[in-house]
Amino acid sequence: MPSRSSLAAAGRFANPLRIPPLLEGVPGTGGKVYDLNVTSGKSEFLSGVSTPTLGINGAYLGPTIRCRTNDRVTMRVRNSLTEPTTLHWHGLHLPAASDGGPHQVVQPGTVWETSFAIKQAASLCWYHSHLMEQTGEQVLRGLAGLFLIEDEQSQSPGLPSDYGVDDIPLVIQDRRFKADGSFDYDLTMHDVMMGYKGNVVLVNGTASPHVVLRRQRTRLRILNGSNSRIYTLGRDDGADLVVIGSDGGLLEQPERLRRVRLGPGERVEILLDMQRDQSIRLMSYPDRVAAGGRGPGMMMGGMAGNIETFPVIELRAEKLETSDLALPERLIQVPGWTAAQAARTRIFLLDMPMMGMGGMMGGAGMGGAMGINGRSMDMDRIDERVSLGSIEIWRIRNTTPLAHPFHIHGVQFRTLDRDGRPPLPHERGLKDTVMVDPDSTVRIITEFSDFADPKRPYMYHCHILEHEDAGMMGQFVVE
Ligand code: C2O
Ligand code: CU
Ligand code: CU
Repeated sequence: MPSRSSLAAAGRFANPLRIPPLLEGVPGTGGKVYDLNVTSGKSEFLSGVSTPTLGINGAYLGPTIRCRTNDRVTMRVRNSLTEPTTLHWHGLHLPAASDGGPHQVVQPGTVWETSFAIKQAASLCWYHSHLMEQTGEQVLRGLAGLFLIEDEQSQSPGLPSDYGVDDIPLVIQDRRFKADGSFDYDLTMHDVMMGYKGNVVLVNGTASPHVVLRRQRTRLRILNGSNSRIYTLGRDDGADLVVIGSDGGLLEQPERLRRVRLGPGERVEILLDMQRDQSIRLMSYPDRVAAGGRGPGMMMGGMAGNIETFPVIELRAEKLETSDLALPERLIQVPGWTAAQAARTRIFLLDMPMMGMGGMMGGAGMGGAMGINGRSMDMDRIDERVSLGSIEIWRIRNTTPLAHPFHIHGVQFRTLDRDGRPPLPHERGLKDTVMVDPDSTVRIITEFSDFADPKRPYMYHCHILEHEDAGMMGQFVVE
């Protein structure tokens, strides 16, 4: 098995990147029908080592669901496992009954069918298990996939969209393995507190991957599908990343950045122009917050974020077909809401009382140890009630020494500010997950439109899955 330090040493990029198959749906009475079979299987991530895994329509991960804005879709989720599960459509704006959260459990041997309209702009969303207190484990074993929405803008000139050819999805995950080859998800108290970290990076389920690029321009659609690890992505040749999209779709304009930090659940879209025979590596570099050490982040040393440098994937160009190298100055108009429009501000305090010395040493189970606004997740309690059609500011304050990726179901939002300062350039588009740094405050703004259901809640939570499973989650209804 790989040693603890093997992240940095990771292999020779010997393995061709696996590309998740596309699932386009078949025409049915209610629009496009997507059949998703949640199943178990065996995967070979490390050569000669067989790992029991879960997947959707396959042994590990799921197909890339693809649809277009304004489509009507029906998801038919069959649970072929011997345990309950759910599939949540992360980033989608849909009715709470279709959300696939902890309330929409699919029992073994049954089918959950749900239909909804795609009422949002093109974006890279995703789907994953959201089973109460077992999301971390089921996602780790493989229950996740991409959900790609396209429209005219997302396929405009200069923006490659030939899936798997010049439009390459990268689902980045880290895993550790036991001696028998199975995934190691025996959580220690440290794992729960800090979030699970693996010592092998998988991209689309491929360890030590490379991909051969075929066109001058490639679009990388990147999901941080890890349980807790933060990646600070950059090119090893020092060139800038050309960022064109975030969680909820295209940015208003391309942004050139040396590094992009991606927390669990976040997505970013990047353009890469290559020359013949050029080969570069996409790396993960030490995190600004962890390395810069401000306040409590420093006290926790490397635990507050990523302090390692390691390669994620090698991108190899050989012969290249020509691409349209136009780079539009403006991509889209991102919907904006102003603070003055907001009907109210809600406060969310991320606190970890157990983070104190006693908690760190205690051996008790973690259930209920983490919360938001001092309360741990309770499926029978609605924490917030939002009026249909209202615009609200959510002010998220993190008093812990760790960064938490805060995610809201059912909406896409804009980030107003971080500690009063404007958000980072790649965060200026629509988002559904935002990093809230140690000892800091982020304000987001959004509109709760279209879907009211006073009975069925949406979730908001930390997307460090160990934190979510330990109770750092709450429920809101739109009514
Ligand atoms: Cu990505 Cu509540 O989930
Ligand atoms: Cu979600
Ligand atoms: Cu957290």
